[in-house]
Amino acid sequence: MCTDNEEKRNLSLGGHVGFDSLPDQLVSKSVTQGFCFNILCVGETGIGKSTLMNTLFNTMFENEEASHYQNGVYLRPRTYDLQESNVHLKLTIVDTVGFGDQINKEDSYKPIVDYIDTQFENYLQEELKIKRSLFNYHDTRIHICLYFIAPTGHSLKSLDLVTMKKLDSKVNIIPIIAKADTISKSELHKFKIKIMSELVSNGVQIYQFPTDDEAVSEINASMNAHLPFAVVGSVEEVKVGNKTVRARQYPWGVVQVENESHCDFVKLREMLIRVNMEDLREQTHARHYELYRRCKLEEMGFKDTDPDSQPFSLQETYEAKRKEFLGDLQRKEEEMRQMFVNKVKETEAELKEKRERSLHDKFEQLKRMHQEEKRKVEEKRRDLEEEMNAFNRKKVAAETLSLSQPLKKDKDKKK
Ligand code: GTP
Ligand code: MG
Repeated sequence: MCTDNEEKRNLSLGGHVGFDSLPDQLVSKSVTQGFCFNILCVGETGIGKSTLMNTLFNTMFENEEASHYQNGVYLRPRTYDLQESNVHLKLTIVDTVGFGDQINKEDSYKPIVDYIDTQFENYLQEELKIKRSLFNYHDTRIHICLYFIAPTGHSLKSLDLVTMKKLDSKVNIIPIIAKADTISKSELHKFKIKIMSELVSNGVQIYQFPTDDEAVSEINASMNAHLPFAVVGSVEEVKVGNKTVRARQYPWGVVQVENESHCDFVKLREMLIRVNMEDLREQTHARHYELYRRCKLEEMGFKDTDPDSQPFSLQETYEAKRKEFLGDLQRKEEEMRQMFVNKVKETEAELKEKRERSLHDKFEQLKRMHQEEKRKVEEKRRDLEEEMNAFNRKKVAAETLSLSQPLKKDKDKKK
């Protein structure tokens, strides 16, 4: 492995060795393997996404018009195999169906963010497998997000700003003004300036064409100044002079898609496909995927350094995690045991209380029954006493009567 402080000596070769063919070997290998490129089109229903894709790749992709009555936004990926000369391109176009159609657009960006993250997650899972097959893995990570801005000539909508802000750390964004033939030249110029100033003031990072490679730095720098590209799409062929061109025909004239004084379509195609496709793929891997991977691994507890900033290998992380996990497990076990003991105590106390309560209730009931009995006996006693009193009274009366009767008989006898 080469490190910066390792001393290197320059030697000259005595003759042809052959490693100067390495770039050619790389090219030939890449060509055989083919390339893959994934485009995400974010824009309102009917804004011209499909037409622009057909115009960009000069073909007719599958097209299904979206309705304006979707309950939410969903993403529809479609993959195609394209070939130009001997180069194969596996192209995936992802459409945002129903974007901008809901009354409450608060969550419209979420399915898009989720989709992008899912593709990163799939790649990460493949990378983390013991038996990886990254060589022939179908990479579905999004390399470019074309954000279609409605040609209002006014300003960006809050949906545009929120969505781009949520996406800018996950994907390369190129904003484009769609259907640019519906806006006048002077309005378009002002609109472009307004959009860029709104993006800057809201801190939205859009993709900048790279200027570090000398071969393309000049064209890329000048194209950066043209953003957002104002594009027109059409697959209609129109005869202009003695040439047939793709254009949109109006009663007052013809808008030629590939005429740079009519719109920026050629600039977009040049930048996206002919000059910076590889940079877009690279940025996706080195910047956006790297950020996702770092956050995800940190979330899972992996670190490159220990608390003293010393390098920390994967093996050490694994051991530390294992210890932490076992410690956690023991603590949880102890907690569970304690919880169980407490529960048993609680249940015992509850049962005791219940038993006591039921005994108390029974005692109360018996007491009540006893009092009731006592009251009844008392009543009976009172009744009996009354009866006895009445009887005694009667007895006294009878006795009194019987005493007075002999006197009367004696009197009669004397007569
Ligand atoms: P959905 O997939 O249904 O969301 O629509 P879309 O965004 O794919 O739009 P599509 O390409 O189907 O175009 C919708 C309509 O706009 C069609 O009638 C197109 O002819 C028209 N259209 C597309 N591009 C342009 C353009 O650049 N300028 C103008 N004026 N019309 C366009
Ligand atoms: Mg479409």
